[in-house]
Amino acid sequence: MLSVIILAAGQSKRMNSKVPKVLHLLGGLPMIQHVLKSVQKVNPYQIILVTSPSLAIEFKGHTTVIQEVPKGTGHAVELALAAVDEKASEVMILCGDTPLIHPHTLQTLNDSEADLTLVSMRLQSQNHAYGLVFQDIKEKPKQIIEFKDATTTQRQIRSGNAGVYKIKTSLLKELLPLLNNNNAASEYYLTDLVGLAYDRGYHTHMIEAEEEEFQGINNRVELAKAEMILQNRWRHEKMMAGVTLVQPETIFFSHDTEIGKDSRIGPFVTFGEKVCIQEDVTILPYCHIEHATIEEGVSVGPFAHLRGNTLLQKGSSIGNFVEVKGSKIGKKSKAKHLSYIGDAEVGEKVNIGAGTVTCNYDGFKKSKTVIKDGSMIGANASLIAPLTIGEGVIIAAGSTVTESVPENALVVARSVQTIKPNWATKFRQKNKK
Ligand code: UD1
Ligand code: CA
Repeated sequence: MLSVIILAAGQSKRMNSKVPKVLHLLGGLPMIQHVLKSVQKVNPYQIILVTSPSLAIEFKGHTTVIQEVPKGTGHAVELALAAVDEKASEVMILCGDTPLIHPHTLQTLNDSEADLTLVSMRLQSQNHAYGLVFQDIKEKPKQIIEFKDATTTQRQIRSGNAGVYKIKTSLLKELLPLLNNNNAASEYYLTDLVGLAYDRGYHTHMIEAEEEEFQGINNRVELAKAEMILQNRWRHEKMMAGVTLVQPETIFFSHDTEIGKDSRIGPFVTFGEKVCIQEDVTILPYCHIEHATIEEGVSVGPFAHLRGNTLLQKGSSIGNFVEVKGSKIGKKSKAKHLSYIGDAEVGEKVNIGAGTVTCNYDGFKKSKTVIKDGSMIGANASLIAPLTIGEGVIIAAGSTVTESVPENALVVARSVQTIKPNWATKFRQKNKK
């Protein structure tokens, strides 16, 4: 059985933030959660997080080990070892700050039967801070030297250590006590295990992965770069799954965005968390959508804002400059222009005219507006909640509706128009200089 240790107790000064590094968001999800999500795909028996004292509170549901003072990756694993279940014959070790790791890389690592397996990557340049992986003539890894400890000649090596390993638990127990901190950082380096294992004749092995997957995130520039890589991956996945993205580089997803086949997303659309879009939906340019479920054949935008648990049912249509919050819009209903619909339950085939506002907030509480099937709300109506508008009602344009309306009624709630013939002409003559 496999036990996983995720190292996340290091200091992260370069983020220049009050928020611990591994809690910074990528696609709306904390970095460390990306690592957890990927690692769960290899079905580990247990996951142990090594955290700093201040971070421990964030991981309540998990097994955590607190590292009071960060004395190096080797020291962190040594602390975690006490929490490794005795049934776990193997341990996989990952870093909390490499959220771009692919589950299939972890799967390949997990499939290895060597005593110690590490993941390495082909480095594009010498401009990095990774550990360098040295191999013997049979291409077995025999030693890792940290870049800061390496000589100029050693730094020519293009094989970098990704910081992800799988090792037999018994071997880990045997070698960890042998680590020392005689190095440039005065830290206990986990990477020294490779040399120790090799020198003792254990079977060491390495698998190769893309450098992109292991980009460490140490500052906000790298955070933005990682976000871009993730967004590109998600764009690619969505398109391959049958979603049309018009100008994909301008469309931004959340980690959990779901979109059905043959839907079409226009440029400059952003998705927050919890969006589920079914098939054949059109999202026109410049929309922001979060916490929304959009059923088949719906059209949204341009310039629409959906949020707060909104449901757009089959064939409905939300047009430009319309905000819908916490509302259900029934089948084939429309709100095409300049509206705010909040905390409303709108039935089927309702037409909501331009400029209609549900006045749902009195400064203290939110109230609900119910609009039943087939009603027609004239332009610029203010519906003062709580309110129920029965089936088939017609509300005259410009009405301020303060009371519930029975089915099939007409509501005119605006001042009566008065016309004074020639009043304007006389007014102008009187005021002429
Ligand atoms: C480490 C590896 C390096 C590898 C690189 C890949 C070592 C000595 N070096 O270097 O070979 O190329 O990762 O990204 O392991 N951490 C703790 N406690 C500590 C120190 C670190 O939990 O005392 C955690 C950090 O939070 C981080 C991870 O371990 O998640 C890696 O530590 P970091 O200091 O970032 O190591 P690197 O210098 O990147
Ligand atoms: Ca790092």
